[in-house]
Amino acid sequence: MPRPSRPALLALAALLALPGALRAGWESIGSLPAAGATASSLVHRDPRVAVSVTALSPEIVRVRYAPTGSFARDHSWAVVRSDLGPARAAVTPGPSASEIVTSALRVRVSFAPFRIAFFDAGGELLDEDDPVRGMAHAGAEVRVWKRLQDDEVVYGFGEKNGRLDKRGWSLGGYHYTMWNTDTYAYDSSTDPMYVSVPFFIVMRNGKAHGIFLDNTFRSTFDVGRESRSLLSFGAEGGELDYYFIQGPHPKDVVARYTALTGRIPLPPRWALGFHQCRWSYFPESRVRLLASTFREKRVPADTLWLDIDYQRDFKPFTWDRGRFPDPGKMIADLRAQGFRVVTIVDPHPTKEPGYPVYDEGIAGGHFVKTAAGTVFEGPVWPSNAAKNAGNSVFPDFTRPATRQWWGGLYREFLDLGVAGIWNDMNEPAVWIRPANTMPPDVRHDNEGLPTDHREVHNLYGMLNSRSTFEGLSRLRPDARPFVLTRSSFAGGQRYAAVWPGDNTADWTSLRQSLPTLMGLGLSGFAFVGADVGGFAHDASAELYTRWIQAGIFSPFMRAHSEAAAADKEPWSYGARHEAVNRRAVELRYELLPEIYDVMEEASRTGIPAMRPMFLEFPEDRETWSRDDQLFFGPDLLAAPVLSEGVVSREVYLPAGEWFDFWTGAPVAGGRTFRVPVTIDSLPIYVRAGAFVFRQPVVQHTGQMAGQPLLVHVYPAPRSEASFYEDDGETMAYARGESARRRFAQRREAGSVTVEAAAVEGPYRPAARDLVFTLVGEGTASRVLADGQALARVEPSAFDAAGTGWTARDGSVTVKVRDRPEALRLTIER
Ligand code: GLC
Repeated sequence: MPRPSRPALLALAALLALPGALRAGWESIGSLPAAGATASSLVHRDPRVAVSVTALSPEIVRVRYAPTGSFARDHSWAVVRSDLGPARAAVTPGPSASEIVTSALRVRVSFAPFRIAFFDAGGELLDEDDPVRGMAHAGAEVRVWKRLQDDEVVYGFGEKNGRLDKRGWSLGGYHYTMWNTDTYAYDSSTDPMYVSVPFFIVMRNGKAHGIFLDNTFRSTFDVGRESRSLLSFGAEGGELDYYFIQGPHPKDVVARYTALTGRIPLPPRWALGFHQCRWSYFPESRVRLLASTFREKRVPADTLWLDIDYQRDFKPFTWDRGRFPDPGKMIADLRAQGFRVVTIVDPHPTKEPGYPVYDEGIAGGHFVKTAAGTVFEGPVWPSNAAKNAGNSVFPDFTRPATRQWWGGLYREFLDLGVAGIWNDMNEPAVWIRPANTMPPDVRHDNEGLPTDHREVHNLYGMLNSRSTFEGLSRLRPDARPFVLTRSSFAGGQRYAAVWPGDNTADWTSLRQSLPTLMGLGLSGFAFVGADVGGFAHDASAELYTRWIQAGIFSPFMRAHSEAAAADKEPWSYGARHEAVNRRAVELRYELLPEIYDVMEEASRTGIPAMRPMFLEFPEDRETWSRDDQLFFGPDLLAAPVLSEGVVSREVYLPAGEWFDFWTGAPVAGGRTFRVPVTIDSLPIYVRAGAFVFRQPVVQHTGQMAGQPLLVHVYPAPRSEASFYEDDGETMAYARGESARRRFAQRREAGSVTVEAAAVEGPYRPAARDLVFTLVGEGTASRVLADGQALARVEPSAFDAAGTGWTARDGSVTVKVRDRPEALRLTIER
């Protein structure tokens, strides 16, 4: 991955390094008198500036800086503020400095000049305003400069290119902009991208805190780039409204950030299967051929996607009836083969009287307007249509009535059996040069406080997907909505999965996908995946195979390709690669019980499924900048091959004991080593003590019911795990229809005990076997289930046998009938 280029800002950096210097036009807050305090907050004000500092919980403190002297409407699109708990703060006003103390934080506010510093409960300084610059404004722009220590590493910022550690290499630092942008065929230095999440995590010696800037205007973040010892952020308008979020574990920071901004909804299980897309599969016969090819070739898959060419003249909510004469029948037939269909619906209806979406939108005042008050129009896909080409108009998703209207338009598609909706081009992309979006003075309702596009731009995609999500929820209240969006903003994880747009079919892009997706996960977006195979240009057979292998560990796994590129289907690269690609997708399906369990955790806690190494091992400095390996959940460490033509791959395993996923062999951690690889290789390691939940290969998630649950138990003296299940499809889980089971193992000299506690919760899966594999156990003298000896079965007869145990592949495998009551297995040595 190329090192980020350093701009020639040396002169500016030198200027900023001078004590007291601030770029021309910036007015830093000088002294600011106290103007009041409450049980949990301090307010400071003079005629030009108002600042408040408020403890929202023991670990979360909100700072608002209004450069106008008074605070604006307190309204947030991102923050939902659930389960924060009481702050229980002690506020101590003083003559030259005041303090807010909670059980986790001490916040010192000094008045002259006005600066804020955050300390942990033990008195360690976590974060402080730069004494020279502090908070400042220049016209409508607001900014804060904070101290950045040499030993701090920085993560997050949502969908970004470059390394996971945003200090960059050798403290080179990154400068990022938040301004949602359609970036076709981007590379690993492209910025900004499609999604804006103004949130980051700072970690020092394994202890972390986070900062979320709740501001939707164009914002920029400078991580030690302008000056190595400074981190600054600010926006082109609005308040400097930020939340300081204490850890100290980085998982605590992510959990608290997602308590503030919300978590992903639990996806339907089918959405965790394999998705096949291209721009575009048409006509109907080609879609049907695609479906039957998956089943004939026995490559598992759940979802087929229809890109823009299924529509009439690229008009949202229409079908090209020449290409798709009977979409309802086609979708029903595909459903019978175990497929779901997702359709693209972009937010740019054509300006065409007589087209109902246009007519209704005009009648309802639903489209955004120019500064002069006329409906704004601009070219997007419909302007490229062969017939009836025209400009588009754009719904104002900041208006509740418009979100409601647009969401309701999905009714006909759902009635036809469409399973999920794909929202694209919602940065919004508008082909007007040079900005490639709406002009900055376009007007938006902004929930009753009209504003212009500068403030709304970064929200457009999030509110588009919100309107879709809420529409789907209303129209089909008992089905879990599935929405994929290209553009979004902080908090958008509540409504839609995200894919990082138009990546490129090259090795850099594959390599980049890991830090980008992990950065999204750290920033609340736990349901993410990049286009497998790369969108722009053709993929080589080797690249495609490596991408599908890596894609197993993306929460969202979809192959996609641009119109001009060759097919990117698992069988598009010859028989040898077809076999390897099939095996990769099969592994995804074998792991689905585990994947679903980890996604449920993400929906409940915010901790992403795809985790950077440091999230699991924050004290281990080797993990801080490792971004070519990942954890899926807490126990599976994947080191997919990300380079061309290699015969080995470097792996780092943190201290402790590990097991090779494929052979079960123990592997010592605390070291870096090379593993030999061939095209079939996908190095995966399992943490000692893990319980990994699997199933036999199925062709789609509809075949999961009744499959045995395969529980692989990796040795440790003692360990515990829990496993979540529900019907995988409906909202019944939200009413408590789920099941959780706790597992434990205990090893003594002569025996191993494995316990499955009684199932908690009312959900019951279809009748099935429960098959435990005690990895590396070799053999046993006796195996007992609840004290009753089980029959020993020959390995070759085991799969067909009922209850019993066998010794095979270096492990002891035990099969019992699943039942909700507690179960104890004793494996006597
Ligand atoms: C955009 C999307 C891409 C899609 C294409 C046509 O480029 O990012 O995924 O295939 O538009 O709809």
